[in-house]
Amino acid sequence: MIRTLGVCYYPEQWDEAIWSRDAARMVDLGLTWVRIGEFAWSRIEPEPGRYDWGWLDRAVDVLTDAGLRVVMGTPTATPPRWMLDRHPDMLACDADGRPRGFGSRRHYCFSHAGYAKDCDRIVTAMADRYGHRVAAWQTDNEYGCHDTVLSYSDAARDAFRAWLSARYGTVAALNDAWGNVFWSMEYSSFDQVDLPNLTVTEPNPAHGLAFRRFSSDQVRAFNARQVAILRARTPAPLAHNYMGRVTDFDHYAVGDDLDIASWDSYPLGFLEDRVGADPAHQAAYARQGDPDFQAFHHDLYRTVGRGRWWVMEQQPGPVNWAPYNPAPLPGMVRFWTWEAFAHGAETVCYFRWRQAPFAQEQMHAGLLRSDDAPSPAWQDVATLAEELAPSADPKAAPATTPKTAAQTTSRAPVGLIFDYDAEWAWTAQPQGRGLSYFALVLDIYRCLRRLGQSVDILRPDGRDLQEYSLVCVPGLMHLQDGLRQALEMVPSHVLLGPRTGVRDREGRTAVPFGPGLAGLDARVTLSETLRPDTPMAVDGGGAFVGWREALEGAAEACFHLADGRPAMVETGRLAYLAGWPDDVLADRVLARGLAQAGLTPEPLPPGVRRRNTATERFWFNHNSEEVEVSGRILPAAGVWREEV
Ligand code: GAL
Repeated sequence: MIRTLGVCYYPEQWDEAIWSRDAARMVDLGLTWVRIGEFAWSRIEPEPGRYDWGWLDRAVDVLTDAGLRVVMGTPTATPPRWMLDRHPDMLACDADGRPRGFGSRRHYCFSHAGYAKDCDRIVTAMADRYGHRVAAWQTDNEYGCHDTVLSYSDAARDAFRAWLSARYGTVAALNDAWGNVFWSMEYSSFDQVDLPNLTVTEPNPAHGLAFRRFSSDQVRAFNARQVAILRARTPAPLAHNYMGRVTDFDHYAVGDDLDIASWDSYPLGFLEDRVGADPAHQAAYARQGDPDFQAFHHDLYRTVGRGRWWVMEQQPGPVNWAPYNPAPLPGMVRFWTWEAFAHGAETVCYFRWRQAPFAQEQMHAGLLRSDDAPSPAWQDVATLAEELAPSADPKAAPATTPKTAAQTTSRAPVGLIFDYDAEWAWTAQPQGRGLSYFALVLDIYRCLRRLGQSVDILRPDGRDLQEYSLVCVPGLMHLQDGLRQALEMVPSHVLLGPRTGVRDREGRTAVPFGPGLAGLDARVTLSETLRPDTPMAVDGGGAFVGWREALEGAAEACFHLADGRPAMVETGRLAYLAGWPDDVLADRVLARGLAQAGLTPEPLPPGVRRRNTATERFWFNHNSEEVEVSGRILPAAGVWREEV
């Protein structure tokens, strides 16, 4: 596997006179890829049906002639203003029913048939023209970013009714599945079902879950239309750039239709905006980024892409969109890039080439400043390009400098299941303020990494489970049949809970109570959620925070609450943890689980993480001071790599 670098470029935002110099500088810097086009619809089709290809033809020529490989983005995330005149009702509506207006981007409803047809048209025209001239494609841009999956428009309502009818067949089946006898919510026709907004108090969680499943299917269908058009016209691989912690649609499903998964990594923006950590943590990592959030997504997209994944946009300096937008520590751009490669990325592209001196993102750094001088990230990228060059002499490099360009990612010994559907089920009925499935899974991931482990994120379908020594399944409210059977049969050690296997497919409480795994006699008989100031201590150290369950059954307790009630039970290789563990308890539970699975927990200093590939061992020190780990001095905010 070759590791390559690239950049996002907007030729339409610059005078054509500088394109060739830009292209030459990209090549000199050591870049291989350049992504263009994804926001350029108003320049490609200035008026309905009148295309202006000249400039884009020349841009593609200039870039490819310079030796760069072009990733062409379809421009459907930014429909031009005239599109609204054509389809005034194409806007998505928020939960209060208000249309989300023109003047930024992503202002479309996935269910609007007229807009979808115009997307077919522009994608067809671009694919006809560039299908054999570019090296890869990106569909749209960041589906779901800016909270754009759920739309409460009339188009969405009509499509939802059709979706319900196809799924349930009869309205009686829907009433039964959702339990609509409750509060006299029964319907007598699908046309009576509205979207689950504007209800007096909370809507039926089954209604909310169905709406989220529908909305996810709409994203997949929207993407699949572009895929079908592109496949018929280009041999190049197809990708989409997903955004961090956007979980409103099923990325596995969209990814199945594509060749490469990619995501947009903004470590400092995320720390402020969506990691959800406490202020002390945010302060400690303000210029480095969270030690696990990026890695989690790297591991997730390795799975979404079935092994092939990129970072399509890497933060190169301050961004513009988080509550605070600090500059990274020197060297962080190189660090983040190596971290992506350590997790198996093929390519890392920077967003963006030159900082724009206008519009929403003029405060967002690029590799170049707006005056064309290199920004601080430039030198990081130059260093990386040298490190990655196949001709570089490994012996000439200092021990801490990664050098090789051909490594493969090996399977990790630990698997952690992440499921979008479970995220929606938690959202539909969280049962306590701020409780989130994503946060629970990330907590378990963090703990595994504190204990020195490399982790694979797994789909919830039970495939390949036997390859893992330890499989963790936190918070997966509904276990699909295939997964349930796999968990019962595989030789792996399995850690379930909390809130795992307790609901059926429709989100109804499983009776008899879950998790209901053959081989583990344990049933969740009560769930309670805890105020932040009322954790429940567990014997020996640590506590449950947020969520706690009471268990019944013959499985033996291996951890106890202070009053003696079971906190975790197990039988053989199957265990159930009956609450959301704080860090201390998570470390105890997982260290035990790893040891039982024949793995060695290797606790790392705070902020230090490790990642193994088939041929390398990486250590990443997220601290702003150097740290010693088993005789290695890891530089401040630095990377250490060894070949094995
Ligand atoms: C991404 C987006 C880019 C740019 C960037 C700024 O979410 O795909 O177009 O807006 O953020 O950080």
